[in-house]
Amino acid sequence: MKRIAVTGGAGQIAYSLLFRIANGEMFGSDEEVALHILDLPGMEPVLEGVRMELNDCAFPLLHEVHIGSDPKKVFEGINLALLVGAKPRGPGMERKDLINDNGKIFVEQGAALNSSAADDLQVLVVGNPCNTNCLILSHNAPRFSKDRFFAMTRLDQNRAEHQIADKAGVPVRSVKNLCIWGNHSSTQVPDCENATVEGHPVKEVIKDYPWFENEFLPSVQKRGAAIIAARGKSSAASAASAAVDSIRSLYTPTPKGQFFSLGVHTAGNTYGIDTDLVFSFPCRSRGLGDFEVVNDLKWSEELRKKINLSEEELKEEREIVTGLMV
Ligand code: NAD
Ligand code: LMR
Repeated sequence: MKRIAVTGGAGQIAYSLLFRIANGEMFGSDEEVALHILDLPGMEPVLEGVRMELNDCAFPLLHEVHIGSDPKKVFEGINLALLVGAKPRGPGMERKDLINDNGKIFVEQGAALNSSAADDLQVLVVGNPCNTNCLILSHNAPRFSKDRFFAMTRLDQNRAEHQIADKAGVPVRSVKNLCIWGNHSSTQVPDCENATVEGHPVKEVIKDYPWFENEFLPSVQKRGAAIIAARGKSSAASAASAAVDSIRSLYTPTPKGQFFSLGVHTAGNTYGIDTDLVFSFPCRSRGLGDFEVVNDLKWSEELRKKINLSEEELKEEREIVTGLMV
């Protein structure tokens, strides 16, 4: 059985995510799950309502549901933490504008994970700015090695895959290896140089070259803001779906020659990205959470410049939060 913590349990992403986990979509139909749901003090009545609804679904794999507002108690014995609970941005903001408000959450939750979680803990940070929050978290939970901490960039990958499939007129499943490099921000770099459509390089299939720079790139980089403008709230169901995809990819052996995007710690990377950042790379899994970064992709000079800009932004974010890192 897997014990899974979800923070921000009273919020909009969790309202989609919890039900998909309980339905067995992360770990498959043979694995029971226990949900440990955290939100702020005062949100207990909402959490109680969420627990009632989870119970009312009669999910065969849902073993038990714990709720609470004390991270140390809620994180007791957990194997996986999905850290969603944080303020979302509003119109006109960049995700890094949240850093001062949200960064400190990950100091407290890092300490709580350090004292309460199971030895095999892995963590996916969703709350923004997720890369830098994840870095803060990893520094505040020194019991766990840095390769247990991930930031979610899968939503960006999914968005980019849809754009390419739509332009090429093929189903999304025909698009493979569309990696996101860097920060989950408007400097992120969706990489069409290493991606394929039905096994062919993307640019052999889509020959409208100006489209990549003028439409595809900005639309993927700014999709979060477009959702906020349209809905008045940030993405929720698609974010939950990307969290499910991230963990499923981490626990399922990756098909030969393929990879998926995940924000991981940069220690030992072969691309020359500064050490001690959380950076989105192409990753592969051997199953059961055992992953590696794919270290032999090639970058054109143009791609390198864009990726380095995202790296610079992450270094600036790190500078702002040095006081929050042990
Ligand atoms: P929301 O406001 O609907 O819910 C957030 C919940 O977190 C609230 O219930 C709030 O009370 C709770 N919370 C705040 N601080 C907490 C803490 N210290 N401990 C536990 N719970 C806490 O927001 P949402 O739409 O669910 O978004 C949550 C976060 O996810 C935001 O930061 C948003 O920007 C981010 N997000 C990231 C991605 C991504 O791709 N990485 C995608 C979508 C949203
Ligand atoms: C997203 O990409 O939808 C989220 O990070 C929310 C946001 O602020 O854009």
